[in-house]
Amino acid sequence: MRVLSGIQPSGSLHLGNYFGMMKKMIEYQERADLFCFIANYHAMTSLRNGKMLAQGTLEAAANFLAMGMDPEKSTFWVQSDLPEVQELTWVLSNFTPMGLLERCHSYKDKVAKGIAANHGLFAYPVLMSADILMFQSNIVPVGKDQKQHVEVTRDIAIRFNNEYGEVFTLPEPEIDEEVATVPGLDGQKMSKSYGNTIDLFLDDKALRKQIMRIVTDATPVAEPKDPDRCNVFQIYRLFLDKEQQDALRRRYLAGGMGYAEVKEELYETVRAFFAPFTERRRELMADREGIRRTLAQGAEKARYVARKTMGKVKKKVGVIY
Ligand code: ADP
Ligand code: TRP
Repeated sequence: MRVLSGIQPSGSLHLGNYFGMMKKMIEYQERADLFCFIANYHAMTSLRNGKMLAQGTLEAAANFLAMGMDPEKSTFWVQSDLPEVQELTWVLSNFTPMGLLERCHSYKDKVAKGIAANHGLFAYPVLMSADILMFQSNIVPVGKDQKQHVEVTRDIAIRFNNEYGEVFTLPEPEIDEEVATVPGLDGQKMSKSYGNTIDLFLDDKALRKQIMRIVTDATPVAEPKDPDRCNVFQIYRLFLDKEQQDALRRRYLAGGMGYAEVKEELYETVRAFFAPFTERRRELMADREGIRRTLAQGAEKARYVARKTMGKVKKKVGVIY
């Protein structure tokens, strides 16, 4: 079973990305043929700063590798290292009705927010379809907001297959209902676009500062507090097992515990959780050539599959003559 997903390096990765995507990908390595990549061309639709995109790409790679992505067990690469994906995007564009893209919520939401409606933003789902179909993926784990893009991918694949025969595997989106949306500092979905994140691999001072910014209500220290309505609890619980969550819940309900105290504990917990990976991440970032080599090897592995798909596609559509 082939599982594929990608992540955009358009900002620092945060706890939402870790619990919502990275952790699952890293676990999948043990039980599936995992394909995981850094979608840097997709990130261009929101990031127009070459230095930041390049830096974000290396950092995202280092974060994944430090947290346990193993290039021996999986195929891990950067999207732009396989230009074949752009070739496939063009082919698929010819099987993509305008109406299909016009219905995409993600596009409509971004335009409604004031992002310029250019062709890249509009064609974003076609590039994503090429990412998925190129590697004959069976399962595509994504957040709820990306489900429609996987449906678009299936639609495009069906249209192509109907005309040219069974070339593409139809992917299934996998939406993990258990991975509830990780809330940000203000209780909305944690997202780089809301500026409410707790980022991965911050230094102690910066981490502490982000955690202290978590929004809480004005309940006095002595009073009982409602854990289900507390942003600190909602983030803290990601790091706790069931028993530990219940114990913390009891402390909330008993009163006598202030938000400053629980934030301090959360800070120590996050620090301790990432500490074992921090040194590895530092070593990786100190050897950027090493990261580039690892990614280049990943791209070679991915290319092996991409060549096969493109060989078939090109023959079918008639651009091999
Ligand atoms: P952002 O919202 O910060 O731009 P992305 O949309 O790039 O993040 O998300 C990349 C991946 O991380 C997706 O698979 C998405 O589902 C996951 N993810 C992002 N934020 C969260 C969150 N708050 N809770 C759970 N998963 C998240
Ligand atoms: N659009 C996805 C996101 O923002 C990232 C992505 C690009 C992706 N290509 C993909 C995810 C292919 C799954 C499969 O989260």
